[in-house]
Amino acid sequence: MSRFWSPRVKELTPYVPGEQPKLKDLVKLNTNEHPLGPSPKVLEAIRAEAGDNLRLYPDPNGDVLKAKLADYHGVSTKQVFLGNGSDEVLAHIFFGLFQHGKPVLFPDITYSFYPVYCGIYHIEARAIPVAEDFSIRPEDYAGDCGGIIFPNPNAPSGRALALSDVERIVAGNPDVVVVIDEAYVDFGAESAIKLVDRYPNLLVTQTLSKSRSLAGLRVGFAVGHEDLIEALERVKNSFNSYPLDRLALVGAVAAYDDEDYFRHATDYVIRERQRVTAGLEQLGFDVVPSAANFVLARHPGHAGADLAAALRERSIIVRHFSKPRIEDHLRITIGSEAQNDALLGALPDIV
Ligand SMILES: Cc1ncc(COP(=O)(O)O)c(C=O)c1O
Repeated sequence: MSRFWSPRVKELTPYVPGEQPKLKDLVKLNTNEHPLGPSPKVLEAIRAEAGDNLRLYPDPNGDVLKAKLADYHGVSTKQVFLGNGSDEVLAHIFFGLFQHGKPVLFPDITYSFYPVYCGIYHIEARAIPVAEDFSIRPEDYAGDCGGIIFPNPNAPSGRALALSDVERIVAGNPDVVVVIDEAYVDFGAESAIKLVDRYPNLLVTQTLSKSRSLAGLRVGFAVGHEDLIEALERVKNSFNSYPLDRLALVGAVAAYDDEDYFRHATDYVIRERQRVTAGLEQLGFDVVPSAANFVLARHPGHAGADLAAALRERSIIVRHFSKPRIEDHLRITIGSEAQNDALLGALPDIV
């Protein structure tokens, strides 16, 4: 704290990202990164771009990447917005589309950045309890509000909502923007991008951090009606004209040029998720059915914090949230075969 701080800085409760440990040889299953590296084509493209060009600013509009994403998702380039990771896209959404003097609705168990964005922009947050089994109940998202946002699949539960239920929420709230955060969609849910032409209040966000193995490159995007995208462009151009650097722009394009690798890498995680789920269940864990690249699990005989600490002693780090309803759960990222073997090998001794 310092007298130089603007008063609003004192009120902020910043988001705390999962630990990025400096130690090597840890089995890192705490931040939902992909266990495999990016496509070799991505690395090739980045290497080719890393030269004299770097003295020049990148394309502020990211036109080539926008065209690639528009083509991939069957929309127009005017329906695509790019950001430095989907976190930045979400920040601009809260600023540009959710400040209406009314509460924004999201599930009580969800991505913990949403309340942080509400805090920085003084938006009232209204947490809607998910069902006992962690599923989102579409009928609970109705009434007067300033906007709605939830991930599909949800995080940290991993539960997916059927597209028909997503559509019910979007169609039932035509006067506010409904944002579907699809950070994990490629691991098992159906994308709502196919609905954007029917609903001018629908905005879908995605990221290259998870299924494209590019968390380190920081590329995210939104797809929706061009009026919504125009609002986000206005915010972005009032904040930072160049959120994506040259390496990120070419790397991201190359990622969408290698569909075979994407399929291979996604199938790998889905296969390993099935194996980890079965292994945990055999050890007595309750595992929430997951459509993502992580699972939320609890053991009836052990507190979540104790389990996380015991795993850490064995150099395995998972995410534990000290939060009502999930304090006895662990969120475990699906790792490589060897990492998952290490997890499943360490647990019998602990439980
Ligand atoms: C639900 C959800 N949305 C968005 C993000 C942000 O991803 P990124 O900023 O890496 O695109 C995350 C990251 O973990 C997430 O879990």
